[in-house]
Formats: sequence, C-alpha cells, structure tokens
Amino acid sequence: MLLILPTSTYRAADFLDAAEALGLELSVASEEPVPLLDPDRFVPIDCARPEESAERVTAFAVRRPIDAIVPVDDRGVLIAALAARHLGLPHNPPDAAAATRNKGMLRRVLARGEVPQPRFGLATSDGVVDVAEQVGYPVVIKPLSLSAGQGVLRADDADEARAAEERIRRILVTAGLDPNQPLLVERFQPGPEIAVEGILYGGELDVLAVFDKPDPLDGPAFEETILITPSRLHPEVLDEALAVARRAVRTLGLMEGPVHIELRVTDGRPWILEVAARSIGGLCGRALRFGLLGTSLEVLLLRHAVGRPKPELRRERPAAGAMMVPIPRAGILRAVHGREAALATDGITDVQITAPPGSRIAPPPEGDRYLGFLFARGDDPGAVERSLRRAAAQLVIEVE
Ligand SMILES: Nc1ncnc2c1ncn2[C@@H]1O[C@H](COP(=O)(O)OP(=O)(O)O)[C@@H](O)[C@H]1O
Ligand SMILES: [Mg+2]
Repeated sequence: MLLILPTSTYRAADFLDAAEALGLELSVASEEPVPLLDPDRFVPIDCARPEESAERVTAFAVRRPIDAIVPVDDRGVLIAALAARHLGLPHNPPDAAAATRNKGMLRRVLARGEVPQPRFGLATSDGVVDVAEQVGYPVVIKPLSLSAGQGVLRADDADEARAAEERIRRILVTAGLDPNQPLLVERFQPGPEIAVEGILYGGELDVLAVFDKPDPLDGPAFEETILITPSRLHPEVLDEALAVARRAVRTLGLMEGPVHIELRVTDGRPWILEVAARSIGGLCGRALRFGLLGTSLEVLLLRHAVGRPKPELRRERPAAGAMMVPIPRAGILRAVHGREAALATDGITDVQITAPPGSRIAPPPEGDRYLGFLFARGDDPGAVERSLRRAAAQLVIEVE
C-alpha cells in the first residue's frame, strides 16, 4: 500500500497505526523524507503539482508494485486518483476528485445535477460586491482552495463584503497563493450544520456517522468547535440529508473511498455546503469506534482500499464527540494549562494539544492549524456535549 502523507497532515499517526494493525506492507509518498522509513519505500511528491506527483508514483510502482493508494487527506486526493487510474487500481475519477478540491468547480458540478446548495456566483477581482448583490445578502465569501474555515467570511452588506474581500486577499498572500484569484460568493445558508462521514464502495455510500455541530456557526468567521454523533436532528430530516448527500456524490461521480459531506438544514430541508473525498479533518476521526473491538475509522478505510468487502460493523453504542479547542486569539502559543483537569472531567476520554509551544496560532479566517482536540463519550449526545464544554473550561491558554 502507498500512503500519501502531506507533511502538515494530522492524520499520519492514525493511518500508520492502522496499516500496522492490518499487517500491510507500506510505502509512503510525502513532501519530505520520512524518518525511520527505508528510503526504497519513499516517493517524493509535491501536492501542489498533482500530475507530476502522480507520474512519480506510477514510476515508483514499476520498482515496487502497489496494490492500493490511500491519500490520508485532501491534498493527496487528486494524485491518488491520477496514479490509481494509470495503475488500474480502484479509484475516484480524477475529474470528480478535482471538483472536490475547488469550491467553485464543486458548485458548478452540483448545480448541473440540481443538488440543493446555496445560491452562488464567482467574483473576479473587484467584482465581489456586484456578485454579492446578485446572490443576495447575507453572503459567505471564500477562496476556492483553502480549508478548515481559512479565508471564509460572512458579509451582511456591501461595506462588509468589501472588507471581507480585502481580508481574504491578504490571507491568500500569506498562504503563498494568487491574491487575485476569483472568490466564491454564496448565499449564507442559515440553520444547523451536520457532517456525514462515509465510505464509498463502488459508488455506494456506506454512512459511518452523522455529526451535529451544536455551536452556532453564524459568522462572520467560522471556527468549528464541537462535533457530536449520533445526530439529534429529526430522523426524517436526517434521511433527507443522507438522500441529498448521496445525490451529491452521484452527481460528482465519486466512486471509492472516504467522503466527508457538510450540510445545513434550513427550514427542515438539507442543503449541501461541501463534499470532500477524504475522512473527517484533524484528529476528530478518533471519536469514531466500530464494532465490539473498537475498530478505528482508518482501519475501515485501509480495508476498503485493499479491496476487502464492506464489513458489517456499526459504530459503537455510546454517543461520542470531539471538540476542536477554540483559539482565543492570534499570537504565539506560550502554554496550555489544565490538561490534567480537562482529562479528569467526567466523560472525557482524551485530550490532545497539537500546537507546539512557541508556534503561531490564529483563529479562522486567518488560521488553518488546530490548537488541540478533546474527546468524550457518554450515554447520549447531551452528556457528551456537557463533558466537552466542561473540559474546555478547564483549559487556560496562554497566547502572547
Ligand atoms: N453558504 C454558506 N452558508 C452558511 N455557512 C457557510 C456557507 N459557506 C460556508 N459556511 C460556513 O463556513 C464553514 C467553512 O466553509 P467551507 O465552505 O466548508 O470551507 P472549508 O471547510 O473548506 O474551510 C462551513 O462549515 C460553514 O459553517
Ligand atoms: Mg468545510
């Protein structure tokens, strides 16, 4: 198996553990050599150059045959699709993978399939206010290629739209991207937000979990915090959300591997915000355990990748959740106190502070790295939510 591990991914350890648990013979494609890995099992790639990187992978496969390619996060999905097509391995069509990597392309493809989604328009430089007026306020303005809420801002009128555009273009400069790239302008879709986690087996979506996001996400910036499963939405609304999610996947033409689909429910009806050909971000996947043995999400994904049949494993019975620890303000992280107290909180199963002391942190829209993660289990979603909030209140975060 070839794992595509972008240098900055949060997912490396969990996928490496899963590969070991399954006894898979592993090679790694990454931007930098991996310590302790046999250099013969390493393929250098550049996630910003998917075609070239896919060629490197296919050349490598001549020396060392590959049965499966797994991109652990967004940045590798197109490389994996291109290389797997070339090698005749099960894969997502590269066009479908590419559409999930460009928010404008995603909207255009979903529009062709008449999948419910926010009204949208693409604004070239200086055109944001015009497009916002056509779309209708309030709007959400975002770059085409970033993630984790980076560069995503709500605007309620023309002044806010102009200010948001300026701020987003500065974020693009800092990210080393073209600041004059078109921006996506969408109608703000009110209502509760959910995330659907699943695996595609030959185009069939197996839903692993649906997460609620109980903190209101009304902007102007969108910092994700709590995720809790099972969802507390009405079962009929949930069924409808899954039907819309399936329609989005079919319209895009995604076929194999993980999908992470974000929807909002407005007036009881689900609308697609985003479809990604990856599993849930950061370390949040650790909230999910399957079957009696507590099999991990990554083990399920690797099993799928090596062609094993869909297991009859359901998510464990307790409610579960994760919290992306909110970043209090931008600056240099000096210390996080209270980890022990957070971990001792009833229902809390793990506390992971991922930002190293001395590193620069910032909440969205500027930031794109997480501070850390809390995990909880409980009898019901309400108990999990209370545990996460109590534990978060124990943390004292020193930012200079
Ligand atoms: N059209 C919209 N209406 C309401 N909220 C939105 C809209 N677009 C984005 N958001 C909010 O911003 C968050 C991040 O936007 P998204 O498009 O998912 O980009 P990414 O997750 O790649 O940063 C969403 O999870 C949602 O809370
Ligand atoms: Mg998103």
